[in-house]
Amino acid sequence: MKDLMRIKALISSDIESLLNQQIKKEAHSSSIYLAMAAWCDSNGLDNSGEYFFKQSEEERTHQMKLFKYVLDMGGTAVSPEVTNIKTEYNSYREVFEDALDQEIAITQSFKNIVARCHKEQDFVTMEFLNWFLKEQREEEYKDRRALELFDLIGEEGTGRWEIDKHVGKIRYSSEAGE
Ligand SMILES: [Fe+2]
Ligand SMILES: [Fe+2]
Repeated sequence: MKDLMRIKALISSDIESLLNQQIKKEAHSSSIYLAMAAWCDSNGLDNSGEYFFKQSEEERTHQMKLFKYVLDMGGTAVSPEVTNIKTEYNSYREVFEDALDQEIAITQSFKNIVARCHKEQDFVTMEFLNWFLKEQREEEYKDRRALELFDLIGEEGTGRWEIDKHVGKIRYSSEAGE
């Protein structure tokens, strides 16, 4: 066989590298959301705290899903170092604005990997990444919905308390009823 890399692994070194970058991004997301959970919790916004604790755990599962895929395909998965986690927020709204920004960046990152897979006809990884693309629909939806609550309810008076109450009820169900 000519292609030694291909004997060792099902994925190319470029895809392996992009997936490792994504593992780091998911780990970063997980830590960001943990910091957001702490901020919300210490500001009396318990439902929002719960929301971000749950998000943080989900990001950890995303990280592990990618990590195991790289290993299963014969690649080298790198345990990421996570630094630069923002812990202070100027406002309640800023937390959700940052969360939506983060999810938009993650969606774009997955699109870039899928584009690369398409270019080198790595349909196996493309199929694996479909789950993440679908997940991003939910992630962006929920943060947008939370930001809508700030516009609908407003933060004055008991507004923050009311917003927090509704954050606890945010659910996403796709048109397929999932
Ligand atoms: Fe994620
Ligand atoms: Fe996410």
